[in-house]
Amino acid sequence: MKILLLGKDGQVGWQLQRALAPLGGVHACGRADCDMTDAAAIHALVGALRPAVIVNATAYTAVDKAESEPALAEAINARAPGELAAAAAACGALLVHYSTDYVFDGGKATPYVETDPVAPQGVYGRSKLAGEAAIQAVAGRSLIFRTSWVFGEHGGNFVRTILRLAAQRDDLGVVADQVGSPTPAALIADVTAAALLRLAHGRRLEIGENRLYHLAAANPLSWCDFAREIVAVAIAQGWGLRLAPAAIRAITTADYPTPARRPANSRLDCSRLGQDFGLSMPCWRPYLARMLERLPA
Ligand SMILES: NC(=O)c1ccc[n+]([C@@H]2O[C@H](COP(=O)([O-])OP(=O)(O)OC[C@H]3O[C@@H](n4cnc5c(N)ncnc54)[C@H](OP(=O)(O)O)[C@@H]3O)[C@@H](O)[C@H]2O)c1
Repeated sequence: MKILLLGKDGQVGWQLQRALAPLGGVHACGRADCDMTDAAAIHALVGALRPAVIVNATAYTAVDKAESEPALAEAINARAPGELAAAAAACGALLVHYSTDYVFDGGKATPYVETDPVAPQGVYGRSKLAGEAAIQAVAGRSLIFRTSWVFGEHGGNFVRTILRLAAQRDDLGVVADQVGSPTPAALIADVTAAALLRLAHGRRLEIGENRLYHLAAANPLSWCDFAREIVAVAIAQGWGLRLAPAAIRAITTADYPTPARRPANSRLDCSRLGQDFGLSMPCWRPYLARMLERLPA
């Protein structure tokens, strides 16, 4: 299986380099190999390589900054996926793409399913939703995985921010009225590889078959509780931190204003992944422990 991986240096892209390797030849590209704002470059790359599968891990992920850079967010998150989908369809490739819990407004009381109405609250969420639509508008074959709260040892994320603050401060307020599932980049990459393997040995997707899946780890919690878990695990592993888990105060979203509005409920129901691929989502905890073991304390 010839695979073109875009975004090899991101959190998920870095894990995909490892997870996709057993499936076949992986041609891994970073920003220097293909700028996703350059449609001609996308078509030239795909046309020259003619892969069987394209995995797009590129994205504009700066949620707050997107509010002041809507054109760039739109170019990378909405237009580029449409160009990729067209290029994939032209050579018969399956496109794998990632989207976000931020397509929802967070007002639902229970976990979101794929068929729930969308209502993004900010530029980032709107641009990602437009990317989903751009892919689905092409008569091609695609898998879109909506995920949430991504973390891993490679790249910037909430876990790294909390570890940095916990080394500097003995008091911290963290938002407690937003709930979601921290999702390891390694899990996203492994589920992607498992789904591709399953499809390679099963029925080929039809032209025009664009499938959407929710992909998030089990055991959702608030940002505040997640911060407490991060600090507790780090201390148990011998990290020298100033901040104790009990010193992390629960604050509200209103106490911590940000340029972009975020959903209060980010929980994603992943039953469809189970039904179609026989995959069940594990808890994020062992991945957090492993990440902290690998980071320099
Ligand atoms: N991070 C989260 O919490 C989160 C939550 C929900 C969904 N998601 C989705 O999950 C997917 C993976 O996210 P992630 O956390 O792995 O993202 P990430 O770490 O921010 O990586 C994004 C990658 O895209 C690349 N990129 C950005 N603009 C580009 C351009 N113009 N041309 C080429 N490459 C470009 C970046 O390149 P550089 O390395 O050169 O900057 C980076 O390697 C994305 O679709 C994201 O929307 C993420």
